[in-house]
Amino acid sequence: MDKRSTSGALLPRLVCCVWLLSAVSLTAAVHCPTTMPYNCTCREEPFAVNCTNVALKTIPTNLPHAPSMTIANNKITSLTTIAYDNLVNLILTNNEIKLVQDNVFQHLKSLTKLILSGNSIALLRPDMFSGLTSLTTLVLHGNPLYHLQSGIFSGSHMPMLSTLKLSQCSIYEISENAFDGLTKLQDLDLSHNHITSLTSATGGKGLLSELISLDASHNWIVDIGKDDFGGLSKLNTLVLSHNKIKTISSTVFNGLHNNLTALNLSYNRLTDISPAAFKYMPVLSALSLQFNFLTTLDVNSIPWHGDEPVVHVHDNPWRCDCDLKWLFEKKSISAWNTNGTTKCAAPKNVEGEDLFQTEHSVFHHCYHSVSAAVVVTIVFFILLSVAVVGFIVYRRYCHGRLRSMRASGTDKEKVLSPPYRRV
Ligand SMILES: *[C@@H]1O[C@H](CO)[C@@H](O)[C@H](O)[C@H]1NC(C)=O
Ligand SMILES: *[C@@H]1O[C@H](CO)[C@@H](O)[C@H](O)[C@H]1NC(C)=O
Ligand SMILES: *[C@@H]1O[C@H](CO)[C@@H](O)[C@H](O)[C@H]1NC(C)=O
Ligand SMILES: *[C@@H]1O[C@H](CO)[C@@H](O)[C@H](O)[C@H]1NC(C)=O
Ligand SMILES: *[C@@H]1O[C@H](CO)[C@@H](O)[C@H](O)[C@H]1NC(C)=O
Repeated sequence: MDKRSTSGALLPRLVCCVWLLSAVSLTAAVHCPTTMPYNCTCREEPFAVNCTNVALKTIPTNLPHAPSMTIANNKITSLTTIAYDNLVNLILTNNEIKLVQDNVFQHLKSLTKLILSGNSIALLRPDMFSGLTSLTTLVLHGNPLYHLQSGIFSGSHMPMLSTLKLSQCSIYEISENAFDGLTKLQDLDLSHNHITSLTSATGGKGLLSELISLDASHNWIVDIGKDDFGGLSKLNTLVLSHNKIKTISSTVFNGLHNNLTALNLSYNRLTDISPAAFKYMPVLSALSLQFNFLTTLDVNSIPWHGDEPVVHVHDNPWRCDCDLKWLFEKKSISAWNTNGTTKCAAPKNVEGEDLFQTEHSVFHHCYHSVSAAVVVTIVFFILLSVAVVGFIVYRRYCHGRLRSMRASGTDKEKVLSPPYRRV
């Protein structure tokens, strides 16, 4: 009787368990086969195929049709056909791809992210990318591109492209209109190349007008041209660190004043910054000037309206004379430069001292000179008013005296007249 009752309770529980298990396995084993070819791996959630470091020479045609496919660190040398129409992410990092046939991606209408970093692509042609109507991110880091020629992205083949990464591509030249056709581009990475000028890349009017972030750090830029950033009215972040820029004139950032929040000019050769260079950047919140050759900085060059920006000034050969006292006084600047790396290089008597040290500040004597100027002014005005009052009093007094002298003069005349008259 005990047995029967237990089995009677067990049966529905078992049925329940089997049903649950089958339900779980049904939702799980939808996409991935039990064995994967080429030692690739397959994942269900999210559905993705990964063939990393499995010595592939071509993209296999018998992989599961996953929206994400990683075929990295292999030996693929050319892209001639891709049989996976439903791809959303395709990662082909670190292969030996030299040849990308025209129209090879033309059926990948859903592809949003294409990563081709670390390959041997030397030449970009517009028809390479035809059909990539959904592509938003194209990463080409570490390909030997050398020269970005005019029109390589033309034809509006990638109308949605918003991120283009071209770091470490040995780029030394960018022809005018190289980015023509990328009307939605927001994020452009040109860092770690050999670019000497951005004029032809970003200087065009209207071109790249949607750009929000530009990284041109680690290049060989010496001069910023007058119109280099002329059309970049939406730019938010500009990184120009690790270049060879010497001077910033008052007009170079014309055109991108309105929305710039971060400007990085660190690790350059800056000796001169125009007092108006950053003045009209109303939302600037971070300005990096560290590791340059600046000896002084005009207080008016920083935009002080609204929230005060964070300004990095350490590691420059500052001349700590009274012209720089404002730097010491600005809390928003000293707060970011408190590690003893903001040192005075001149004058001789304060050489090597911390600019932001409050005790024994090198600027203490500037208080005296400032108050001396105030004292001189006050004394001058006191003297002036004394002189004016004195003059008025003198005139009144003299007038009075003259009058009274004239009045008494008649008496005197009367007194004195007889003897004179007598004479
Ligand atoms: C898969 O990997 C194992 C060892 O990691 C290797 O012995 C085998 O040859 C590989 N198979 C293929 C098809 O590459
Ligand atoms: C692919 O597999 C490799 C290891 O074989 C791993 O390091 C890598 O993160 C994987 N990539 C993805 C996108 O899952
Ligand atoms: C500044 O950025 C905001 C938000 O990103 C945008 O709405 C605005 O149009 C931009 N201003 C200019 C002048 O581009
Ligand atoms: C500026 O650039 C330098 C060097 O590339 C980097 O270390 C630093 O974090 C950047 N600063 C800001 C505020 O972006
Ligand atoms: C100062 O140094 C400390 C420790 O090295 C570091 O965590 C901090 O970020 C530095 N501060 C600045 C403003 O560089």
